[in-house]
Amino acid sequence: MDRRQLLQTTAYGTLLASLGACANTSLVKSQAIGKTPPWPSEIHKIAFGSCIDQNKAQPIWQAILANQPDVFIFGGDNVYASSQPWQLNQLEKAYATQAAHAGFAQLRNTIAHVAIWDDHDMGLNDGGAEFAHKQVSQNAFLDFWRLPANDPRRAREGLYHAMSFGKAGQRVQIILLDTRSFRSAPRKTDRRDAPGKERYVPDTQPSKTMLGEAQWQWLTQQLQTPADLRFIVSGVQVAVEGHGWEGWHNFPLEQEKLRHVIRSTGAKGVVLLSGDRHIGAIYKSTSANLYPLYELTSSGMTHAWQAAKEAGPNRMGELITQNHFALIEVDWQQRQMQWGFKNTQDEWLKKESIALSELQ
Ligand SMILES: [Fe+2]
Repeated sequence: MDRRQLLQTTAYGTLLASLGACANTSLVKSQAIGKTPPWPSEIHKIAFGSCIDQNKAQPIWQAILANQPDVFIFGGDNVYASSQPWQLNQLEKAYATQAAHAGFAQLRNTIAHVAIWDDHDMGLNDGGAEFAHKQVSQNAFLDFWRLPANDPRRAREGLYHAMSFGKAGQRVQIILLDTRSFRSAPRKTDRRDAPGKERYVPDTQPSKTMLGEAQWQWLTQQLQTPADLRFIVSGVQVAVEGHGWEGWHNFPLEQEKLRHVIRSTGAKGVVLLSGDRHIGAIYKSTSANLYPLYELTSSGMTHAWQAAKEAGPNRMGELITQNHFALIEVDWQQRQMQWGFKNTQDEWLKKESIALSELQ
């Protein structure tokens, strides 16, 4: 069977249909580039992580590879290249250093993967729309992640993107949000390092945005496409409260807008994945007329924040403060998901179950 037939006769076809006709050629083309692994026809296991310092040891890849996930999600800060003044050759050097790690190369060549950026691979610590070099940096991202010439991300500003995998009843949608390219400047704290106000305080000006208008409209459309389980990936934490670092809580109206969009589109099965914080944790956020929003933060594949301590009013259990990645296993028969964290030795650090019926 040649690839064209394969595409048309497997659940791949479902994926392609949901992506539109151009995706067909883009997938074929991405595979023509060489070592891009094929997309999975169904999803049972997802691994997810963020914050990878290209200059540090990376034993974590062996643990991830041992689990053979169907897809790996790179959640941002996939390299660190945010020294100022920003220079393209610094970013290119960071990507080249990262590419040379054998475990990373093996994963990139053998495991299907998607990526979104955060501040340190965009190029400015805690940066947003104001970053002057974001288009040049975006181009470097597109090339490093081997995105084909006709990928929609090459034709628009920002790196937001979505894909769906699997047949009806077992369809997984991965929505990658760009929380950097369009983000307004957050309001600076008046008490630096005070617990709860470490860097920023909430700003309720209606003009302040996390996603920008075009990405909000796109997200609203994405949430109306059919899926049984939807992972919304954001570089920064989304529904988390209790600290004054970066996150959607810097703009409470944007947090509420996200809940409103999930409610108004009737999207079921939404769970949140985030990074940035150099900790691991699971959170649960409840609000009126909406199922609980669970959020898993997995950050620190090479340099977790070992001394981390924070209040975590909507956190479930303790912080993970050692290097880790997240593993998500979906049992479609039992209609449940198990998720948690594993360390560089492939040992579970924490594991929780969620019934998919909770996300209705
Ligand atoms: Fe980071």
